[in-house]
Amino acid sequence: MNLADRRREYALAALDESSVAADPMEQFRRWFADAESAEVPEPNAMTLATADTAGRPSARIVLLMAFDAQGFVFFTFYASRKGRELAENPRAGLVFYWESIARQVRITGRVERLDEETSGAYFRNGTAGSRLAAWAAHQGPVTAGGPAHDQGVAAPAPKWGGYRVIPDEIEFWQGRSSRLHDRLQFQRVGETQWHCVRRSP
Ligand SMILES: Cc1cc2nc3c(=O)[nH]c(=O)nc-3n(C[C@H](O)[C@H](O)[C@H](O)COP(=O)(O)O)c2cc1C
Repeated sequence: MNLADRRREYALAALDESSVAADPMEQFRRWFADAESAEVPEPNAMTLATADTAGRPSARIVLLMAFDAQGFVFFTFYASRKGRELAENPRAGLVFYWESIARQVRITGRVERLDEETSGAYFRNGTAGSRLAAWAAHQGPVTAGGPAHDQGVAAPAPKWGGYRVIPDEIEFWQGRSSRLHDRLQFQRVGETQWHCVRRSP
């Protein structure tokens, strides 16, 4: 099958309660794999929305560095606007849009900062590592270590690192022909349990 046919096949696939995974992180894993095999450009680029305590929103693109049962990981500068907003209001929205396969994923949740060790491990091993490394080359190292230790002085605090969005809502939107789009929304109802509802497109 050529690429155009494969994309069309994903884009025309129905999303319904019988085919969707019971766990939305598993569903995300399937859709992310589809986006990669359909060669969607920048499948790990996502919009990250944050807000300050006055409720003023701001949004920008960041790269998804990793995801697992716990949530979605991205990297940024702590002193950036998003870093400051997350420090005062640790909640965020994420949006993926994969145009060529007509899919959108929307996520909301609370956000926690990864500790230095976990940040470093993701940075070295993450699937998006080389892309992120290119972006990060302009931002300085993950951890500033070095001779300070030998002099008995605390190492300078790292200037940037990872954050994890722990989802409480994940919504999958599948564009369909003749505008009969599918939209399934998962809401967290327990530590590992989710409730799935169909919404009108
Ligand atoms: C394709 C793409 C990928 C990007 N990836 C990141 C990223 O992973 N982390 C990041 O902090 N900024 C990334 N940026 C830059 C952000 O969009 C943004 O300009 C910057 O982080 C400052 O945002 P802020 O002032 O709202 O904090 C990326 C931009 C683009 C267009």
